[in-house]
Amino acid sequence: MKKYAVIGNPIGHSLSPAMHNAAFKAMKVDAKYEALEVERLDRAYDHLRKTYAGINVTIPHKVEIMGYIDEKEMAADLIGAVNCVDFNEAAKGYNTDMYGAVDALMSEVPKLKNKKVLVLGAGGAARAIVYGCVLEGCRVSLHNRTAEKAKELSKEVLDKIAKKVAVVDEVDLSKIDVIINATSMGMRPNNESPLDVQIPSSAVVMDIVYNPLETKLLKQAKAAGARTIDGVEMFVLQGAESQRIWGYDPPVDVMRKAVLAKL
Ligand code: ATR
Repeated sequence: MKKYAVIGNPIGHSLSPAMHNAAFKAMKVDAKYEALEVERLDRAYDHLRKTYAGINVTIPHKVEIMGYIDEKEMAADLIGAVNCVDFNEAAKGYNTDMYGAVDALMSEVPKLKNKKVLVLGAGGAARAIVYGCVLEGCRVSLHNRTAEKAKELSKEVLDKIAKKVAVVDEVDLSKIDVIINATSMGMRPNNESPLDVQIPSSAVVMDIVYNPLETKLLKQAKAAGARTIDGVEMFVLQGAESQRIWGYDPPVDVMRKAVLAKL
Protein backbone atom coordinates (compact mmCIF):
# COMPACT_ATOMS: atom_id res chain seq x y z
CA MET A 1 0.00 0.00 0.00
CA LYS A 2 1.26 3.48 -0.88
CA LYS A 3 1.37 5.98 1.95
CA TYR A 4 0.88 9.72 1.83
CA ALA A 5 0.75 12.34 4.58
CA VAL A 6 0.35 15.99 5.37
CA ILE A 7 3.01 17.21 7.78
CA GLY A 8 2.69 20.29 9.97
CA ASN A 9 2.43 21.51 13.52
CA PRO A 10 -0.33 21.69 14.65
CA ILE A 11 -2.04 19.31 12.23
CA GLY A 12 -4.98 17.85 14.16
CA HIS A 13 -7.70 19.81 12.36
CA SER A 14 -6.44 19.18 8.84
CA LEU A 15 -9.13 18.33 6.29
CA SER A 16 -6.55 16.82 3.93
CA PRO A 17 -6.79 13.18 5.12
CA ALA A 18 -10.58 13.07 4.61
CA MET A 19 -10.23 14.69 1.18
CA HIS A 20 -7.40 12.50 -0.13
CA ASN A 21 -8.66 9.23 1.36
CA ALA A 22 -12.06 9.86 -0.26
CA ALA A 23 -10.25 10.30 -3.58
CA PHE A 24 -8.24 7.08 -3.17
CA LYS A 25 -11.37 5.16 -2.23
CA ALA A 26 -13.33 6.46 -5.22
CA MET A 27 -10.41 5.65 -7.57
CA LYS A 28 -10.02 2.19 -5.96
CA VAL A 29 -6.35 2.96 -5.31
CA ASP A 30 -4.64 1.01 -2.53
CA ALA A 31 -3.25 4.04 -0.68
CA LYS A 32 -3.61 5.73 2.66
CA TYR A 33 -3.19 9.40 3.60
CA GLU A 34 -2.56 10.50 7.17
CA ALA A 35 -1.95 13.67 9.17
CA LEU A 36 1.45 13.69 10.84
CA GLU A 37 2.51 16.16 13.47
CA VAL A 38 6.13 17.01 12.80
CA GLU A 39 7.88 19.25 15.25
CA ARG A 40 11.39 19.04 13.81
CA LEU A 41 11.86 18.47 10.12
CA ASP A 42 15.58 17.71 10.50
CA ARG A 43 14.71 14.69 12.63
CA ALA A 44 11.73 13.57 10.54
CA TYR A 45 12.92 13.97 6.95
CA ASP A 46 14.74 10.64 6.42
CA HIS A 47 11.76 8.76 7.80
CA LEU A 48 9.36 10.69 5.56
CA ARG A 49 11.55 10.04 2.51
CA LYS A 50 11.58 6.27 3.20
CA THR A 51 7.96 5.83 4.26
CA TYR A 52 5.83 7.99 1.97
CA ALA A 53 5.21 8.12 -1.77
CA GLY A 54 4.39 11.80 -1.40
CA ILE A 55 3.59 14.43 1.21
CA ASN A 56 1.83 17.73 1.60
CA VAL A 57 3.60 20.27 3.73
CA THR A 58 1.97 22.95 5.81
CA ILE A 59 2.86 25.49 8.49
CA PRO A 60 5.61 25.74 9.79
CA HIS A 61 7.63 23.59 7.33
CA LYS A 62 6.78 25.01 3.89
CA VAL A 63 10.01 26.99 3.55
CA GLU A 64 12.38 24.73 5.49
CA ILE A 65 11.46 21.66 3.40
CA MET A 66 13.16 23.32 0.42
CA GLY A 67 16.51 22.66 2.06
CA TYR A 68 15.94 18.88 1.98
CA ILE A 69 14.43 18.07 -1.41
CA ASP A 70 16.40 17.44 -4.63
CA GLU A 71 14.45 19.59 -7.10
CA LYS A 72 11.84 22.32 -7.23
CA GLU A 73 9.26 23.07 -9.87
CA MET A 74 8.84 26.62 -11.19
CA ALA A 75 5.98 27.78 -8.92
CA ALA A 76 7.65 26.50 -5.75
CA ASP A 77 10.85 28.25 -6.73
CA LEU A 78 9.08 31.55 -7.45
CA ILE A 79 6.87 31.53 -4.38
CA GLY A 80 9.68 30.31 -2.13
CA ALA A 81 7.53 27.65 -0.47
CA VAL A 82 6.77 23.98 -1.11
CA ASN A 83 3.45 22.43 -0.09
CA CYS A 84 3.68 19.17 -2.03
CA VAL A 85 6.55 16.71 -2.50
CA ASP A 86 6.70 13.74 -4.85
CA PHE A 87 9.09 11.14 -3.44
CA ASN A 88 10.14 9.40 -6.60
CA GLU A 89 13.73 8.69 -7.57
CA ALA A 90 14.29 12.37 -6.84
CA ALA A 91 12.34 14.24 -4.16
CA LYS A 92 10.64 17.02 -6.12
CA GLY A 93 8.85 19.97 -4.51
CA TYR A 94 5.82 21.82 -5.85
CA ASN A 95 3.53 24.64 -4.78
CA THR A 96 -0.01 23.57 -5.59
CA ASP A 97 -1.59 26.61 -3.91
CA MET A 98 -0.80 28.64 -7.01
CA TYR A 99 -2.54 26.17 -9.32
CA GLY A 100 -5.43 25.72 -6.86
CA ALA A 101 -6.01 29.47 -6.76
CA VAL A 102 -5.90 29.85 -10.55
CA ASP A 103 -8.18 26.83 -11.12
CA ALA A 104 -10.65 28.15 -8.53
CA LEU A 105 -10.71 31.57 -10.22
CA MET A 106 -11.16 30.00 -13.64
CA SER A 107 -14.33 28.27 -12.44
CA GLU A 108 -16.00 31.72 -12.61
CA VAL A 109 -13.60 33.65 -14.85
CA PRO A 110 -12.40 31.29 -17.61
CA LYS A 111 -10.38 34.01 -19.37
CA LEU A 112 -8.10 35.63 -16.82
CA LYS A 113 -5.87 37.52 -19.24
CA ASN A 114 -6.06 41.31 -18.66
CA LYS A 115 -8.63 40.95 -15.85
CA LYS A 116 -8.16 43.53 -13.10
CA VAL A 117 -7.60 41.62 -9.89
CA LEU A 118 -7.34 43.10 -6.40
CA VAL A 119 -5.56 40.86 -3.88
CA LEU A 120 -6.02 41.63 -0.18
CA GLY A 121 -3.11 40.43 1.97
CA ALA A 122 0.62 39.88 1.51
CA GLY A 123 1.34 36.68 3.45
CA GLY A 124 2.08 33.17 2.21
CA ALA A 125 -1.31 32.60 0.58
CA ALA A 126 -1.22 36.01 -1.11
CA ARG A 127 2.20 35.22 -2.60
CA ALA A 128 0.88 32.10 -4.34
CA ILE A 129 -2.22 33.95 -5.58
CA VAL A 130 -0.31 37.02 -6.82
CA TYR A 131 2.20 34.91 -8.79
CA GLY A 132 -0.59 32.75 -10.18
CA CYS A 133 -2.64 35.73 -11.36
CA VAL A 134 0.36 37.59 -12.78
CA LEU A 135 1.47 34.51 -14.74
CA GLU A 136 -2.07 34.22 -16.17
CA GLY A 137 -1.77 37.78 -17.48
CA CYS A 138 -4.05 39.50 -14.94
CA ARG A 139 -3.48 43.13 -13.97
CA VAL A 140 -2.93 42.72 -10.26
CA SER A 141 -3.14 45.30 -7.52
CA LEU A 142 -2.30 44.55 -3.94
CA HIS A 143 -3.58 45.95 -0.66
CA ASN A 144 -2.33 44.94 2.78
CA ARG A 145 -2.74 46.23 6.33
CA THR A 146 1.06 46.48 6.52
CA ALA A 147 1.78 48.35 3.29
CA GLU A 148 5.49 47.63 3.53
CA LYS A 149 4.90 43.88 3.04
CA ALA A 150 2.81 44.54 -0.07
CA LYS A 151 5.58 46.76 -1.45
CA GLU A 152 8.18 44.04 -0.84
CA LEU A 153 6.09 41.45 -2.66
CA SER A 154 5.48 43.83 -5.57
CA LYS A 155 9.20 44.55 -5.86
CA GLU A 156 10.00 40.86 -5.75
CA VAL A 157 7.56 40.07 -8.59
CA LEU A 158 9.12 42.83 -10.68
CA ASP A 159 12.65 41.55 -9.98
CA LYS A 160 11.85 37.88 -10.58
CA ILE A 161 9.47 37.91 -13.55
CA ALA A 162 9.45 41.56 -14.69
CA LYS A 163 5.71 42.06 -14.08
CA LYS A 164 4.16 45.07 -12.36
CA VAL A 165 1.91 44.72 -9.32
CA ALA A 166 0.42 48.02 -8.13
CA VAL A 167 0.32 48.54 -4.38
CA VAL A 168 -2.77 50.47 -3.27
CA ASP A 169 -3.26 52.15 0.10
CA GLU A 170 -6.94 52.90 -0.50
CA VAL A 171 -9.23 50.28 -1.99
CA ASP A 172 -11.09 51.52 -5.09
CA LEU A 173 -13.32 48.82 -6.58
CA SER A 174 -14.76 50.87 -9.44
CA LYS A 175 -12.56 49.26 -12.10
CA ILE A 176 -11.94 45.88 -10.45
CA ASP A 177 -13.12 42.60 -12.05
CA VAL A 178 -11.97 40.18 -9.34
CA ILE A 179 -11.46 40.63 -5.59
CA ILE A 180 -9.54 37.96 -3.66
CA ASN A 181 -9.28 37.86 0.11
CA ALA A 182 -5.90 36.28 0.93
CA THR A 183 -5.91 37.47 4.56
CA SER A 184 -7.09 35.42 7.50
CA MET A 185 -9.86 37.97 8.18
CA GLY A 186 -13.27 36.36 8.38
CA MET A 187 -11.97 33.12 9.85
CA ARG A 188 -13.95 31.75 12.79
CA PRO A 189 -14.34 33.03 15.48
CA ASN A 190 -13.68 36.50 14.01
CA ASN A 191 -16.62 37.49 11.87
CA GLU A 192 -14.76 40.33 10.14
CA SER A 193 -14.63 41.47 6.53
CA PRO A 194 -11.49 42.87 4.88
CA LEU A 195 -13.70 45.32 2.89
CA ASP A 196 -15.95 48.10 4.12
CA VAL A 197 -16.87 49.51 0.70
CA GLN A 198 -19.70 48.61 -1.68
CA ILE A 199 -18.83 45.67 -3.95
CA PRO A 200 -19.81 46.14 -7.62
CA SER A 201 -22.36 43.57 -8.87
CA SER A 202 -20.11 42.88 -11.86
CA ALA A 203 -17.24 41.68 -9.64
CA VAL A 204 -16.24 38.11 -8.82
CA VAL A 205 -15.24 37.74 -5.17
CA MET A 206 -13.05 34.88 -3.98
CA ASP A 207 -12.18 34.07 -0.37
CA ILE A 208 -9.42 31.74 0.81
CA VAL A 209 -11.10 31.38 4.21
CA TYR A 210 -13.32 28.26 4.33
CA ASN A 211 -14.29 28.23 7.97
CA PRO A 212 -17.01 29.51 7.90
CA LEU A 213 -17.79 28.57 4.31
CA GLU A 214 -19.79 31.76 3.83
CA THR A 215 -17.61 34.50 5.26
CA LYS A 216 -18.84 37.99 5.94
CA LEU A 217 -17.08 39.11 2.74
CA LEU A 218 -18.91 36.50 0.66
CA LYS A 219 -22.22 37.51 2.26
CA GLN A 220 -21.52 41.15 1.32
CA ALA A 221 -20.66 40.06 -2.22
CA LYS A 222 -23.84 38.00 -2.61
CA ALA A 223 -25.97 40.85 -1.23
CA ALA A 224 -24.39 43.12 -3.85
CA GLY A 225 -25.28 40.65 -6.61
CA ALA A 226 -21.66 39.65 -7.25
CA ARG A 227 -20.53 36.10 -8.07
CA THR A 228 -18.53 34.30 -5.36
CA ILE A 229 -15.93 31.53 -5.02
CA ASP A 230 -15.57 30.11 -1.52
CA GLY A 231 -12.40 28.95 0.21
CA VAL A 232 -13.21 25.26 -0.19
CA GLU A 233 -12.74 25.60 -3.94
CA MET A 234 -9.09 26.65 -3.70
CA PHE A 235 -8.43 24.09 -0.97
CA VAL A 236 -9.92 21.22 -2.99
CA LEU A 237 -8.26 22.26 -6.25
CA GLN A 238 -4.81 22.53 -4.65
CA GLY A 239 -5.44 19.03 -3.28
CA ALA A 240 -6.45 17.81 -6.73
CA GLU A 241 -3.21 19.23 -8.11
CA SER A 242 -1.26 17.24 -5.50
CA GLN A 243 -3.06 14.08 -6.66
CA ARG A 244 -2.07 14.81 -10.27
CA ILE A 245 1.55 15.31 -9.22
CA TRP A 246 1.45 11.87 -7.57
CA GLY A 247 0.16 10.38 -10.83
CA TYR A 248 -3.60 10.14 -10.28
CA ASP A 249 -6.64 11.54 -12.08
CA PRO A 250 -8.54 12.81 -9.04
CA PRO A 251 -12.34 12.85 -8.66
CA VAL A 252 -12.70 16.52 -7.70
CA ASP A 253 -16.41 16.29 -6.82
CA VAL A 254 -15.75 13.43 -4.41
CA MET A 255 -12.96 15.44 -2.78
CA ARG A 256 -15.18 18.54 -2.47
CA LYS A 257 -17.99 16.49 -0.88
CA ALA A 258 -15.60 14.93 1.63
CA VAL A 259 -14.37 18.38 2.71
CA LEU A 260 -17.86 19.89 2.92
CA ALA A 261 -18.99 16.94 5.06
CA LYS A 262 -16.27 17.80 7.58
CA LEU A 263 -17.11 21.51 7.85
P1 ATR B 1 -0.96 33.13 5.25
O1 ATR B 1 0.24 32.29 5.06
O2 ATR B 1 -2.24 32.36 5.50
O3 ATR B 1 -1.14 34.14 4.16
P2 ATR B 1 0.23 35.09 6.99
O4 ATR B 1 1.49 34.95 6.24
O5 ATR B 1 0.27 35.15 8.46
O6 ATR B 1 -0.75 33.89 6.63
O7 ATR B 1 -0.56 36.36 6.42
C1 ATR B 1 -1.75 36.78 6.95
C2 ATR B 1 -2.27 37.96 6.13
O8 ATR B 1 -3.51 38.39 6.69
C3 ATR B 1 -1.37 39.17 6.15
O9 ATR B 1 -1.49 39.86 4.92
C4 ATR B 1 -1.96 40.00 7.30
O10 ATR B 1 -1.69 41.38 7.23
P3 ATR B 1 -0.31 41.99 7.84
O11 ATR B 1 0.74 41.72 6.83
O12 ATR B 1 -0.60 43.43 8.03
O13 ATR B 1 -0.08 41.26 9.15
C5 ATR B 1 -3.42 39.75 7.08
N1 ATR B 1 -4.23 39.97 8.29
C6 ATR B 1 -4.39 39.12 9.32
N2 ATR B 1 -5.21 39.63 10.25
C7 ATR B 1 -5.59 40.85 9.79
C8 ATR B 1 -6.46 41.88 10.29
N3 ATR B 1 -7.09 41.77 11.47
N4 ATR B 1 -6.60 43.00 9.53
C9 ATR B 1 -5.98 43.12 8.34
N5 ATR B 1 -5.16 42.19 7.82
C10 ATR B 1 -4.97 41.06 8.52
